[in-house]
Amino acid sequence: MPKNGFGAIELIGFLVELYEASQVYKLPDVEFSYWHDDNAPAETIKKPDGTWTWPFAPHGLPPILAWSKAKQHGALLVPYSGAFRCPRDSFDAIMTEVQRFSETPWEKRSSLAFGRWNIFCAWYYRGAQRLEDGTAAPCPRDYYNDLYYNHSSTIMTLGLLRNYTNGTTAMPLSLHEQHKFKYLVSTDGWAISSKFDKYLLLGSLLLKAEGQTYGWYYPAIKPFEHFLPIMKKHKDDLLDMLEWAKSHDKEAQQIGQNAQGFAMRNLNRPMRLCYIARLIQEIAKNMKYTPDCSKRPVCVPLVEEIKFLGKYEETKHRCRYQEVVTQYAHDDPDALPGDSGFEELRQKHEAMPLHILFGGRR
Ligand SMILES: *[C@@H]1O[C@H](CO)[C@@H](O)[C@H](O)[C@H]1NC(C)=O
Repeated sequence: MPKNGFGAIELIGFLVELYEASQVYKLPDVEFSYWHDDNAPAETIKKPDGTWTWPFAPHGLPPILAWSKAKQHGALLVPYSGAFRCPRDSFDAIMTEVQRFSETPWEKRSSLAFGRWNIFCAWYYRGAQRLEDGTAAPCPRDYYNDLYYNHSSTIMTLGLLRNYTNGTTAMPLSLHEQHKFKYLVSTDGWAISSKFDKYLLLGSLLLKAEGQTYGWYYPAIKPFEHFLPIMKKHKDDLLDMLEWAKSHDKEAQQIGQNAQGFAMRNLNRPMRLCYIARLIQEIAKNMKYTPDCSKRPVCVPLVEEIKFLGKYEETKHRCRYQEVVTQYAHDDPDALPGDSGFEELRQKHEAMPLHILFGGRR
């Protein structure tokens, strides 16, 4: 847990979801590292027999889990749990509104293509990302704003340069309102877009700019079945896709429905917990040693870490800790009484850059 990421929902959300998985499932003992930042390191090497160590890191290190990666990153993907369960407009919160979205049926939705983001450009848009016409892909978050100025009758993008000194970001339009557009444009940031999962739920047609990073379920979604691919053939193919969608209204609506059905069936919380449990079971089959706290300088029960995060000033408003604390902590055999572990953990957090966490029903 590097100090610079402390408080980030990418880390907190995963710990909370992992804790819930450890309470719902009986998990084997494993060790892994969790990479909370954008680009997971490429911890993979070619072995003498020509096979790769992927996904297990070389030198006997435990595997790295991450929420987003590019093909060259030797990490195992887990859900972006922070975006799925922490903020007010989390995936889980948006999912409870599907009934309300249906009150704006397809025919009543605006036929503008809507997109909203802060403008910055991932490394792979600086020449590495190629289009099918052989040219380099421009950065979608930049380029689509220019396209919008020339085609404002069909596209509306709200992009704003993030001002790092005063923290200004793009004009808000709540996710709870974006289902009022038939067409939604999704672009990646440094890593996968945390809005993409939520967009799947809205029942609108998703236009997804190609990128190089992907999330845990991306291999299961298909172009023209769950979304339309853009920034793929040429830099203005968004306009072609919109034209296709307008002349194939029934098909466009169907693709939006497919996406919504897919997300509701496969990305809901029990399915995410199941995914995490299965992943940990698979890792266990490949462990070459028995994980043991006595081998580590610091070992903290996960339940105590969650309780700590829920009370600590910097982190207490970042996620919905009580959903798991009230449900599981009272009879968790690893939990200390009340908040008696708080002070010790506060000191550890302030002194140690890295924690080893453990937990699970034993
Ligand atoms: C917008 O229109 C101007 C004037 O025709 C043109 O120079 C520019 O390349 C266009 N930009 C985009 C992104 O289409």
